[in-house]
Amino acid sequence: MTALRTPVKESSQIVIVSNRLPVHRVKRSPEDVWEISPGGLVSALTPVLQSKPSTWVGWAGVAGKAPAPFEHEGIRNHPVALSKKDVEAFYEGFSNRTLWPLYHDAVRPPEYRRRWWWPYVKINRRFAEIAVEVVAQKGTVWVHDYHLQLVPAMIREMRPDVRIGFFMHIPFPPQELFVQLPWRRRILEGLLGADVVGFQTRLGAQNFARLARRFTNATGSRENLQYEGRRIVSEAFPISIDVERFEKLAQSPEITSRSREFRTKLGADRKIILGVDRLDYTKGIDIRLRAYQELLRSGKTNLNDCVLVQVATPSRQRVAEYRELRSHIEQFVGEINGEFGELGRTPVHYLHRNLPAEELAALYLAADVMLVTPLRDGMNLVAKEYVACRTDDSGTLVLSEFTGSAEELSSALLVNPHDLDGLEAAIDTALHLPIEEQHRRMRPLRRLIKRHDVFYWADMFLKALKR
Ligand code: ADP
Ligand code: G6P
Repeated sequence: MTALRTPVKESSQIVIVSNRLPVHRVKRSPEDVWEISPGGLVSALTPVLQSKPSTWVGWAGVAGKAPAPFEHEGIRNHPVALSKKDVEAFYEGFSNRTLWPLYHDAVRPPEYRRRWWWPYVKINRRFAEIAVEVVAQKGTVWVHDYHLQLVPAMIREMRPDVRIGFFMHIPFPPQELFVQLPWRRRILEGLLGADVVGFQTRLGAQNFARLARRFTNATGSRENLQYEGRRIVSEAFPISIDVERFEKLAQSPEITSRSREFRTKLGADRKIILGVDRLDYTKGIDIRLRAYQELLRSGKTNLNDCVLVQVATPSRQRVAEYRELRSHIEQFVGEINGEFGELGRTPVHYLHRNLPAEELAALYLAADVMLVTPLRDGMNLVAKEYVACRTDDSGTLVLSEFTGSAEELSSALLVNPHDLDGLEAAIDTALHLPIEEQHRRMRPLRRLIKRHDVFYWADMFLKALKR
């Protein structure tokens, strides 16, 4: 994909700031190309920004000089430069080896390195400076995610005229974990620079308010924190997807025929179990492979009854934990295929690549069972995308209790991914769920996501910010 480059000069009423832009530059020969950026933040925000005139400030995904501001698919992009060293310390280090594991229940040990902290402060300032350059007088800046928690206070210092929102896409940890962070007070003060601090769940908002009262001068209740003479709202705003877009895709003749093609290729007589995740250790991909392997071993199901398709998006491949995870998962897939496969019939199909939304929709449509088994996840949009594509109310969503989505999607088959026997039993149940029971569970899920789509989410947040 190539980006249309038109330099942007005028200031914006609404400025979005996140580490990533919606597209990132990929080095290719003879020339670089632009691809859609990975992850839920970009999937969720893109349709919102396409419907509102605004500017998106973020990193273009490669180290070095920032490309000039450009417009792409209706969004004005304002790239921020990160050098190779910035990427190592700010992005791979503090963001993804300190904060990411700490905020996800420390499912991997967080690393606390002083040499990553100062680059984090420096790069947060760089994002804040660009945001204040492009925002109009009395405009709104909406900052996103764990990479940029100091930005709200930095913007307030430079531009007290603007309204500042912050939304955390990942979980916000409980006190017992957050207190480990050597820079905990600085992070909390950074977030308190916002007028509204939004979280995926009520628990996240509660954790934040408690910590703010304990480590800063903030007083008051969660929805009404008082800090330095200002009122700050800390609330849950569960993020969602563009439901209509997925429904339309799933009902289009091209996608339905593509989905039939998948079914034929995989074996029309077999039930299809699907997993779609960024290749991240929080997603519980290994656990679901283990449960599937045990189910095959038990003889309760076999190669001719079902097939597992696991799509794994390449992610953070320069970080050691991610490289190790990749080789572990790929070895595991090989082990299961070696143990149960037959010529021309494979128990696990594994795709390690980005797919267009159309291909994902066709897979969601083909899948009888969707496995979403993270150990911890802020929301998990894949679960909502599956539900959006099931326009005939069939199909079964197996969903980890430890996702933000589980709070809303309570009629899914909820599982504790730490309980291997329970997960194995849930997959078995899902494979044999009568169609009436599938409908009974799917209908409320569909009703809910149709009411609370991503446009509703953005409206709620921006309304709270106007108050
Ligand atoms: P996270 O933000 O942690 O990656 P989410 O489930 O919230 O997890 O969001 C993932 C997003 O990435 C979804 O919108 C999903 O459609 C998209 N996605 C997942 N796998 C792929 C893939 N292989 N190719 C393209 N998009 C993908
Ligand atoms: C999660 C985070 C996003 C991030 C995405 C992809 O969704 O909440 O902020 O952009 O993962 O990760 P990456 O490191 O590739 O940006």
